[in-house]
Amino acid sequence: MTISQLEAQITSIQNQIAQEKFDQSFDFRSKYLGKKGIFNSLAKEIVNIDPQDRKQAGEILNKFKNDLENLINQKNVSPDHHHFFDLTIPGLSTKNGHTHPISQAMEEITQIFQEIGFTRVRYPEVDWDWYAFESLNMPPTHPARDEWETFFINNGENITKDVSYDANSPRQRHPSLIGGKLVMTPHTSNGQVREMERLKEPPIRMINIARCYRRQQDVTHTQMFHQFEGLVVDQGINIQHLKGTLDYFAQKFYGQGTKSRIRPFHFQFTEPSFEVDFSCHICGGTGERDGEKCRFCKSGWHEVGGAGMVHPNVLKAGGIDPDVYTGFAFGWGIERTYTLKEGLNIDDIRLLYSADLRFLQQF
Ligand code: FA5
Repeated sequence: MTISQLEAQITSIQNQIAQEKFDQSFDFRSKYLGKKGIFNSLAKEIVNIDPQDRKQAGEILNKFKNDLENLINQKNVSPDHHHFFDLTIPGLSTKNGHTHPISQAMEEITQIFQEIGFTRVRYPEVDWDWYAFESLNMPPTHPARDEWETFFINNGENITKDVSYDANSPRQRHPSLIGGKLVMTPHTSNGQVREMERLKEPPIRMINIARCYRRQQDVTHTQMFHQFEGLVVDQGINIQHLKGTLDYFAQKFYGQGTKSRIRPFHFQFTEPSFEVDFSCHICGGTGERDGEKCRFCKSGWHEVGGAGMVHPNVLKAGGIDPDVYTGFAFGWGIERTYTLKEGLNIDDIRLLYSADLRFLQQF
């Protein structure tokens, strides 16, 4: 075959294309560019072309192939059999999402506390410094604030600051528009005085679940995390009520046999204050497993958060008379509490917020 014969064949194919009707049922690609299509049978002829002309023939064929592809795009003829519905092709199932493990934990925690008469509430996650610190017995320059590594909002401080709070005089209420600094709440304890204001009179049985923010990031800390805060205020509330509530939660959330432990600690807003531990389900609280130190807890206990008896100054800030009422409060990290559940083995809580479906789909 010579170059001019090749060109003549291409011209005749082009004439044939000019006669085609480009309607929906016409499969241009398979007729002209398919494996056994017209272009391929022409291209096979290249072996019959004089070796010295083959390079030129290749270029001509390439150009022709490009023209055919362009024509498909121009005529908008789908390269697929789009008019043909193949019932045998397996379908694409829609992907169902599911509740995030932390949301699941929040639901479970809410239910456990509702069973013993707590009411679930939620308070602002960007709140006045007053609720996050000052009303909790932490005046502006108090060093205890450092523990909370707080993000402050740059809102200026020119909003009216009219806090008529007087720690020495009970039942002093302050106006609800506080002013002053705004913070990204570093703990759910901002809900304590807010709940006292909402209910005005005890009894109070609150469970406040919300996001918290701190400038922290490592395997056990994230900048955004969740806490749940319990607050009970009534006449005659004492540490036994707190301990009973902790034991109840430990058994419900982690299973029968789990024990709680309180250790002396310091918080400005509770007196006395405690750190709360739950016994380890791997070693049963002994700290040992198979003759070795338990690798999960190292001591038999896991620390989950803080608790204590509500400080009289906090009750006063909420307009409650500390001579008549007492209360207890606790605040724990949901991520921490949840990852200690049996069988989860999550050694880096940042995974919970990695948006990695391979991880999240396991829950
Ligand atoms: C508090 O935040 C107190 N408000 C708790 C409290 C409430 C005490 C009521 C007394 C009465 P603490 O800073 O220890 O305490 O935090 C409590 C728990 O929150 C921690 O034990 C941990 O489980 C969780 N937590 C704190 N910071 C982070 C973080 N950056 N990431 C994940 N979890 C955190």
